Amino acid sequence: MSSRIGLLKLLILLVVQVCSVSAIPDGSDSSALQVLKSEWTALSKSWKGSDPCGNHWVGITCNNNNRVVSIMLSNLNLKGNLPADISTLSELEILDLSYNTGLSGALPSSIGNLKNLKSLILMGCGFSGQIPESIGSLEKLTTLSLNSNHFSGTIPASIGRLSELYWFDITDNQIEGKIPVSDGISLPGLDMLHQAKHFHFGNNKLSDSIPEKLFSSNMTLIHVLFDDNQFTGKIPDSLSLVKTLTVLRLNRNKLSEEIPSSLNNLTDLQELYLSDNRLTGTLPNLTSLTSLYTLDVSNNEKMTLSLIPSWIPSLRNLATLRLEGIQLDGPIPTSLFSPAQLQTVYLKRNHINATLDFGTNYSKQLEFVDLRNNDISVYSPVANNRIQVLLAENEVCDDEANRHSGYCSGDQKNSSFSTLPTNCRRGCDKGRIASPSTCRCAYPFTGTLTFRSPSFSGYSNNSNFLSLQQSLEEFLKDPIYMGASVAISNIRETPLDYHLLIELLVFPFKNERFTDDAMSRVGFEFSNQTYKPPPVFGPYVFNANPYSTSFYDGGSNSVNMGIIIGAVVGAVVLLLLLTIAGIYALRQKKRAEKATDQINPFAKWDTGKNNTDAPQLMGAKAFTFEELSKCTNKFSEANDVGGGGYGQVYKGVLPNGQLIAIKRAQQGSMQGGLEFKTEIELLSRVHHKNVVKLLGFCFDQSEQMLVYEYIPNGSLRDALSGKNGIKLDWTRRLKIALGSGKGLAYLHELADPPIIHRDVKSNNILLDEHLTAKVADFGLSKLIGDPEKAHVTTQVKGTMGYLDPEYYMTNQLTEKSDVYGFGVVMLELLTGKSPIDRGSYVVKEVKKKMDKSRTLYDLQELLDTTIIANSGNIEGFEKYVDVALRCVEAEGVDRPSMSEVVQEIESIVRLAGLNPNADSATYEEVSGDHDPYGRDSFEYTGIFPATKPERMV
Ligand SMILES: *[C@@H]1O[C@H](CO)[C@@H](O)[C@H](O)[C@H]1NC(C)=O
Ligand SMILES: *[C@@H]1O[C@H](CO)[C@@H](O)[C@H](O)[C@H]1NC(C)=O
Ligand SMILES: *[C@@H]1O[C@H](CO)[C@@H](O)[C@H](O)[C@H]1NC(C)=O
Ligand SMILES: *[C@@H]1O[C@H](CO)[C@@H](O)[C@H](O)[C@H]1NC(C)=O
Ligand SMILES: *[C@@H]1O[C@H](CO)[C@@H](O)[C@H](O)[C@H]1NC(C)=O
Repeated sequence: MSSRIGLLKLLILLVVQVCSVSAIPDGSDSSALQVLKSEWTALSKSWKGSDPCGNHWVGITCNNNNRVVSIMLSNLNLKGNLPADISTLSELEILDLSYNTGLSGALPSSIGNLKNLKSLILMGCGFSGQIPESIGSLEKLTTLSLNSNHFSGTIPASIGRLSELYWFDITDNQIEGKIPVSDGISLPGLDMLHQAKHFHFGNNKLSDSIPEKLFSSNMTLIHVLFDDNQFTGKIPDSLSLVKTLTVLRLNRNKLSEEIPSSLNNLTDLQELYLSDNRLTGTLPNLTSLTSLYTLDVSNNEKMTLSLIPSWIPSLRNLATLRLEGIQLDGPIPTSLFSPAQLQTVYLKRNHINATLDFGTNYSKQLEFVDLRNNDISVYSPVANNRIQVLLAENEVCDDEANRHSGYCSGDQKNSSFSTLPTNCRRGCDKGRIASPSTCRCAYPFTGTLTFRSPSFSGYSNNSNFLSLQQSLEEFLKDPIYMGASVAISNIRETPLDYHLLIELLVFPFKNERFTDDAMSRVGFEFSNQTYKPPPVFGPYVFNANPYSTSFYDGGSNSVNMGIIIGAVVGAVVLLLLLTIAGIYALRQKKRAEKATDQINPFAKWDTGKNNTDAPQLMGAKAFTFEELSKCTNKFSEANDVGGGGYGQVYKGVLPNGQLIAIKRAQQGSMQGGLEFKTEIELLSRVHHKNVVKLLGFCFDQSEQMLVYEYIPNGSLRDALSGKNGIKLDWTRRLKIALGSGKGLAYLHELADPPIIHRDVKSNNILLDEHLTAKVADFGLSKLIGDPEKAHVTTQVKGTMGYLDPEYYMTNQLTEKSDVYGFGVVMLELLTGKSPIDRGSYVVKEVKKKMDKSRTLYDLQELLDTTIIANSGNIEGFEKYVDVALRCVEAEGVDRPSMSEVVQEIESIVRLAGLNPNADSATYEEVSGDHDPYGRDSFEYTGIFPATKPERMV
């Protein structure tokens, strides 16, 4: 009996051994992958069995010897580290782990053992630490993409040994120090990379001068992208030896001295960005750059006063010209607009004078000319009004006859092109989205395409975007990508460096969801840049959003973060579609009513108390045009106190002596009657001592006006710039932060319905006679209607410098976008400067400069001198900076709510030895309550509240 059992055991053992021998062909490859599998648990379902090659593990490709040659695991929600065991995969040629934001930690130094590796693609992950020196041992490497991680330290000089390297991208990390160059003996350096075509180093902390040695005639670089670093010194002359160069971005550094005239040798150059530096002298003659599409030298304030260069018209391919703030003076030559491809011209903040005349020979592509803040005195618009011209802050706009024309008050238009279907009969549920052309509901994988150097700039012509969509769809039609179809939407430009961003949605052709396999393949085509967009778009970077390939997998109950994010993204998109559907339905329903309502939407308001349509106006009065005309002296110029994109603001006096401010919409920026009515209903319900009060409105004689209480001391921006002579010491600044914070907390949490301001900035915080801050201008406000409190808006609105980057990227509007803007205002209160000042952004500047180990966080240099001069001590300063920086966290979830911010500031105010409720004392007769939010419990009984006489300015 026992011998039979023994025999059986032996047999089993034999079978197991035979099996394992055939199933695990190479012990090391298999065991290394087992280590990866246990580290990256997201793979547990798609890596089944024990043989990566024989069992066709997702993302794994093997050669005939059953050795692993490629690992492609793009965008699969992997989390954890990169285990050192990977270094045993000695046949590995491609390692792509892109878009797994959960991958973190340092790269193991043993990675240098992967002697056959050709592509190392780790873009869009969370890796950090120093890039290991051992990377220089990967002799066969052609593609090194480490962009959008958290790498720090320096660029290893050993990378100079990668003689095959073609693509080198470290954009968007925290890498610092010098660019290493060889010493000609033993030390390697990047000057040895003769095969390299791409140096993408933007958005790091690289410093020192750009070495002359880096460039030589042996180099074959086509893209040198060094923007947004801290390079100093001169632009190296040796650049002109790299004749292959087509894109050169040196913008947003600290480069100084004159622009080398040798750049004129780079005859293939298509894009030249030198903006936001400290360059001096004048523009050299660049007349040979006839391939140039973009010339950007803006914001080099130290350049010498000079005329607009006469050679610019010889740049016959020029599409975009940006020469802002470089001290150009004299007249604008008519020939400037003659290059046949010219689309946009930016010449803001110069001293250009005399007449703006397009002549007859201007480019037929011309769309946009921005000449704001110059000295132009005469402009006769061309008959063709396709060209948008902006001339605010020029002499010509001082003229009463012109100041209301579009060219004196307009702003640049955005593209709203989208290929998402809008006419599907049924909506999609469960977070799915309707596919283009078929309306089939599915889960697309989504992300952002970033084009750093498109060769066109007029975003009103959609043919380029359409061709992008078609080329993507053509490329992804293959069954291995599940025959994907493609939509693009939300086209926009980044404010400071003019990158073109486009949202991409890729839908599986027949299925509802991509498989892991198809997902990792599609991801690789973008991360490896295998897909090439139409040439006008130039190089790109794709950043994928997390995607879940297994949402309704019944087998598993573990919902990971990726799924949640996916669901939230889905829900948000669904919300957008529902909103569109809702608006559509509402439109249909309202169509009949609307015809009459549009003519006089207020007719129903006056028909007695029992009318259900009558809104709760809470004291806001309907003024006639005559009444307002009378109290502003016929809208005289003397009463004009400013204006913006929407129209002018006038000061007036009511018959009872009350001062009022009238916001008068100009033709073109008027809302529909119904929208106007909605806005008034909303505004009239807002009552808080830190929010400007609406007193009434006028909808009469085709005018739309809002009547507010007049706030005598103007805006916080005016006060900070010293325009109105108010000195703001530290305690005043604290009180202003507290007051405006309370106003916003009220709007978010206590107004009924709650309101997102959408345009929080120092221009919209007004100061009354006691310097009490009042939040103003809800022109852009939106109700917070639904429980999710997340809104998808079709167009990003707000002001550059204060704009929440998350809202900007996702179009998803929450109260936290206001918190961001408020954080910027808090920092602005420290520096006194506009948030974007000479190309530097206050949020970035403070983060860069601050050193928590030192007093005042070592920020003295950035502080407004008034704070220091007028304040003995700056009590609570560090805590204030901490709060401000929490408000400008990149992600809304990491920011505090406004009421939390208010609590924090209150405790700082106490630290500074003040009573946080002191400012309300002067309002006791109006508010009389001790509500922590400072709610105004005043009941309106008449049209105007009894107010104290206000001081004239
Ligand atoms: C360019 O390459 C040639 C041949 O490889 C070499 O002799 C020369 O020194 C190199 N020039 C520079 C400037 O590196
Ligand atoms: C490059 O430019 C410099 C200065 O403009 C000029 O002297 C030189 O001859 C040019 N070199 C070539 C190869 O064109
Ligand atoms: C610029 O250089 C070109 C040729 O190098 C020359 O013909 C032209 O006159 C120059 N223009 C100016 C304004 O100096
Ligand atoms: C324009 O500016 C130039 C240079 O400052 C000056 O010489 C000229 O007189 C100005 N022309 C007009 C019309 O103001
Ligand atoms: C990766 O991209 C390069 C260049 O775009 C291309 O030549 C190569 O074939 C791609 N690799 C794979 C495996 O598709």
